[in-house]
Amino acid sequence: MATATQETVPNAKTNLVPIHPRVEEFLRSPKRLLIGGKWVDAASGKTFATVNPATEETLARVAEADAEDVDRAVRAARAAFSSGPWARMAPAERGKLLWKLADRVEEHLEELAQLETLDNGKPLAVARAADLPLAIDLFRYMAGWATKIEGNTIPLGLAQPESFLAYTVREPVGVVGQIIPWNFPLLMAAWKLGPALACGCTVVLKPAEQTPLSALRLGELIQEVGFPDGVVNILPGFGETAGAALAAHPDVDKVAFTGSTEVGKLIVRAAAGNLKKVTLELGGKSPNIIFADADLEEAAAGAAMAIFFNHGQCCCAGSRLFVEAPVAEELTERIAKEAEKIRLGPGMALDTEMGPLVSREQYDRVRGYIRIGAEEGARARSAPLQGLERGYFVPPTLFTDVRPEMRIVREEIFGPVVCASSFRTEEEIPAAANDSIYGLAAGIWTRDIRKAHRLAGRLRAGTVWINCYNVFDAALPFGGYKQSGWGREMGHAVLENYTELKSVCVRI
Ligand code: NAI
Ligand code: MG
Repeated sequence: MATATQETVPNAKTNLVPIHPRVEEFLRSPKRLLIGGKWVDAASGKTFATVNPATEETLARVAEADAEDVDRAVRAARAAFSSGPWARMAPAERGKLLWKLADRVEEHLEELAQLETLDNGKPLAVARAADLPLAIDLFRYMAGWATKIEGNTIPLGLAQPESFLAYTVREPVGVVGQIIPWNFPLLMAAWKLGPALACGCTVVLKPAEQTPLSALRLGELIQEVGFPDGVVNILPGFGETAGAALAAHPDVDKVAFTGSTEVGKLIVRAAAGNLKKVTLELGGKSPNIIFADADLEEAAAGAAMAIFFNHGQCCCAGSRLFVEAPVAEELTERIAKEAEKIRLGPGMALDTEMGPLVSREQYDRVRGYIRIGAEEGARARSAPLQGLERGYFVPPTLFTDVRPEMRIVREEIFGPVVCASSFRTEEEIPAAANDSIYGLAAGIWTRDIRKAHRLAGRLRAGTVWINCYNVFDAALPFGGYKQSGWGREMGHAVLENYTELKSVCVRI
């Protein structure tokens, strides 16, 4: 594990952690596309700027892939899938490569955490303690699966037992396009790459245009640990160009997407041309339900974390709060207090608890929703921003007096904004909590285990957290009901997304 060396101790004057020498070096070096094991310029020669959201300054320019580069990368991925060392590699060797990658990422933890903070805005302490360890753990978990992807032997019901041998095998689905968002850039890359590589697929990965840096550095580490050329191709670029070309490409067998529900629908349409397999991890408007019999201190802190972690830029953010009437006032007061205590600042300061939002676009969007909420008649509480003249900072905001039809209650805001309402009986909850096009996650806070499990069964959500929130583990499947998506990430459930099932039937 990386420990705090002298280089990682904050500067006494600015309070900022000095930029790691390898990060400096990486930021200065040309940032190209990884295609077929080589770092190359975009065919168009174009580049785009990636911005530090805490300073609004350009961090680096990055090669900008478009359709022609996607085509080159898909050809490289196809070649690596069909012939060469990857196609012949034993599962245990694939597992070893994934494990080596995990070790390599761990050796470079501080550097990757800093890149994440600079590009995305999140507190360095969070990148160090959450994003990086979760990504490392995911690679290790998936390394173990490489040797455990099995079929079954199937007794045929209508045949004489001795006349047929029938069995199934799981084979890699093929060339996979992976399109990921900017909220957990490296972790989302790990969630996508880990299972694809464990299963023996080859990949064209498109990081989000807001946060391409950690994926590019990961690409260097992938090459260093010895993945054969063309197994992982990395194409920074924009959604409407590179992303759309990848989703529509006729020689891509599967596309895995994480992002907005709106773009998820475009992916489905683009994939129809060759009926490529599609998995989607989309938006949410997750209910977080607090009963009067909960440990109120724990519930208040948990509810604040559920919405304010990662500045609310989480697909599973607990953005609709339902509090049982007798404690509603007390609870909202406690949560408002928690929100006021959160220290906003640049991610590179170690005492920062909430950084800026990722981009100008998200800043305008989230502030737009805060305005809409006020116009709709909800009451907002937020602490004023102090001493932050630059950067895309938005204060944690708690809305009360909300009604179910308000836009701030129905639409995903993807910022530190929570809508609180109260309820009288357990019976009201399923209808109110499920009154959403989304179904990604939900939280329940109570000391009554019967009530907790009863309710967990009635919530239409892919994950239900009871007396906790935002608990992630590589072994625990994650994904959405309804318009929150198709398929699951993580756990062994994800392996189904990256394999085809073949039945073999032998007459004997
Ligand atoms: P987005 O869905 O546009 O972007 C996510 C990824 O999709 C990026 O890599 C982007 O380049 C790519 N993309 C965009 N358009 C595409 C297209 N036509 N074809 C293929 N790929 C495309 O999300 P955006 O615009 O960054 O954020 C807007 C809203 O989306 C947020 O406010 C939030 O509500 C939601 N969102 C949800 C995420 C989640 O984890 N579920 C993550 C990011 C955004
Ligand atoms: Mg977009």
